[in-house]
Amino acid sequence: MAVVLSDRMASVSYEIRDIVARARKVAASGKKIHWFNIGDPNQFGFTPPPWITDAIMAALKDPKYSAYCPSEGDPELRAAIGKIEGVPSDYVTIHSGLSEGIDFLFQALVNPGENLLLPSPSYPLYNSKLRVNGGLDNYYQSDANFIPDTGDLRKKVNSRTKAIVVINPNNPTGATYPRKVLQEIVGIAGEHKLPIIADEIYDKMTIDEDHSINLRDLAGELPLISGNGLSKNFVYPGSRVGYLAFHGNGIGPLRDAIVKLCNSRLSVNWEMQRGALAAFTMPMSHLQKVRQELRERRDIIYKGLNGIQGISCAKPTAAFYSFPKIESGKFKDDREFVYSLLEETGVLVVPGSAFSPVLPGKYFRLVFLASPEELQEAIGKIDGFMRKNG
Ligand SMILES: Cc1ncc(COP(=O)(O)O)c(C=O)c1O
Repeated sequence: MAVVLSDRMASVSYEIRDIVARARKVAASGKKIHWFNIGDPNQFGFTPPPWITDAIMAALKDPKYSAYCPSEGDPELRAAIGKIEGVPSDYVTIHSGLSEGIDFLFQALVNPGENLLLPSPSYPLYNSKLRVNGGLDNYYQSDANFIPDTGDLRKKVNSRTKAIVVINPNNPTGATYPRKVLQEIVGIAGEHKLPIIADEIYDKMTIDEDHSINLRDLAGELPLISGNGLSKNFVYPGSRVGYLAFHGNGIGPLRDAIVKLCNSRLSVNWEMQRGALAAFTMPMSHLQKVRQELRERRDIIYKGLNGIQGISCAKPTAAFYSFPKIESGKFKDDREFVYSLLEETGVLVVPGSAFSPVLPGKYFRLVFLASPEELQEAIGKIDGFMRKNG
């Protein structure tokens, strides 16, 4: 007798990890796999700064922190984040990763049949969490460099739209958005009285600049929820500490609703939050080396991919994602390209359509966290593959 699942499970998928089962089968045949599918720097030798792990170790030895933490988060941590975000500490909630914060936001905001504006392409957690909460994904397009098309965004707002999601810097494209475009988004949100959800989890993981532009500096009194955490800027995804900061007029009821949801799941691991306190109060000196390593890898990928017949690639300016375009070849779509590439070369990337159902099936996401030598080796393999199949 099979257990009968809820209908909503049909909307839950996460192709970035699902594709791993396919890669394992190829690996079993003896082929070397280049794991360019998942954005986890720690699997590639990047490590969190020692002052964060030291603070966690000290907390582990202090019995105070083996209790349940206050549900909204450690008071000192909320105050430190409030200082950065420019809001009082009770306008900050701490989450088990920003992922939990996003889930709570969607639970609190969206009724069945209502929609959120999402960038196309966008990080798959968004449509998965949205759909499981009964909402609809309503995409706005981006241009060839993956900058939001604000004309399209304006057209996509409808009477059942509840908020605009902005992911800057962006996963899966590695794009950072110019000030003018962010100002236009703020203008559209203001005209339609829509809150903005700003996912800024890569805001310091920029390759050519010190940081990207934060929407809190442009949004004025507009309701804005900023999301961030330890996973990317602090190279500590396993800590599972993220936060939401609530800005602007009229944001109170949403903050209260999120606090209720926090109460109902009791607590986020307290020791890890003490590590986050160190992260958000110490200088971010580790980033210089991280940026240098990312720049070296980005340059290899950008030059290498654009040198391959049948592939083009916009220049990533943040994070560790590239989103190349399949310009030619005998492939039916991006999935066929990705599966053939895996089987023939062992290079594992993710089909672009996993990041947007409205995107033409001509893209793939390649994570460039591996060593420069491995990236070069893989570029050679992709080149050989395109010469044969392009
Ligand atoms: C854009 C974006 N937002 C959120 C997350 C998840 O963040 P966390 O690890 O804090 O749950 C990720 C993880 O890759 C991401 O790329």
